[in-house]
Amino acid sequence: MLDLAVEYQDYILRGVVYTIAITLISLSMGFTISLVLTAARFLGFKPLRLAAEAYINFFRGTPLLVQILMVFFGLPSIGINLSAFHSAVIAIGLNSGAYQAEILRVAIKGIPEEQMLVARSLGLSEIEIMKGVVIPQAVRNAIPGLTNEAVILLKESSLASVIGVMELTRVGEYMVSATFRALEAYLLIALIYLSLSMIAFRLLKRAEKSLAIPGFE
Ligand code: ARG
Repeated sequence: MLDLAVEYQDYILRGVVYTIAITLISLSMGFTISLVLTAARFLGFKPLRLAAEAYINFFRGTPLLVQILMVFFGLPSIGINLSAFHSAVIAIGLNSGAYQAEILRVAIKGIPEEQMLVARSLGLSEIEIMKGVVIPQAVRNAIPGLTNEAVILLKESSLASVIGVMELTRVGEYMVSATFRALEAYLLIALIYLSLSMIAFRLLKRAEKSLAIPGFE
């Protein structure tokens, strides 16, 4: 297996870069979308709320693989031509937006309602309550879910291989087609994903700790 790693190191390195790029870009795109969806959900204007719910149901209720295929093969028929990489990032980002909106919803729901009542009775304005009470706690509550989402996206980015993006999984397929050493090649690729996941877990554990309330682990 080591000789495979050495021989294909350039491909592997490029695969790692693509995998990380897809993960980070779609994670941030998803986060931005989730903020918009969350605002639409909580602003109290029904049509907006229904549109946000429809978006979330669509992206959570259909396979990510089909969404990627729709963007890459479907959009050209209405005149939008995207590269495989851009299609993958957009589809995964749109998908993640729906999941991250759910993470934020649960994070906000987790804040005890009495706190708002107390804050209001202390005379804080709605904006002060948002800034001082809701957002800091919602962020803290959302961190474990968002950590999880980062690792999910790292693994789901492998779906980009079906449209030919040269990320890690596609590099594995390429190595297999060139050497027929499938077990070793895919095991090598799996171990690289595992190392990346472990790094992500570590980084995010640290973030979780720095946001933790002293005394509550
Ligand atoms: N394989 C799952 C699907 O096809 C992936 C869902 C993506 N999940 C996520 N948390 N962004 O639906």
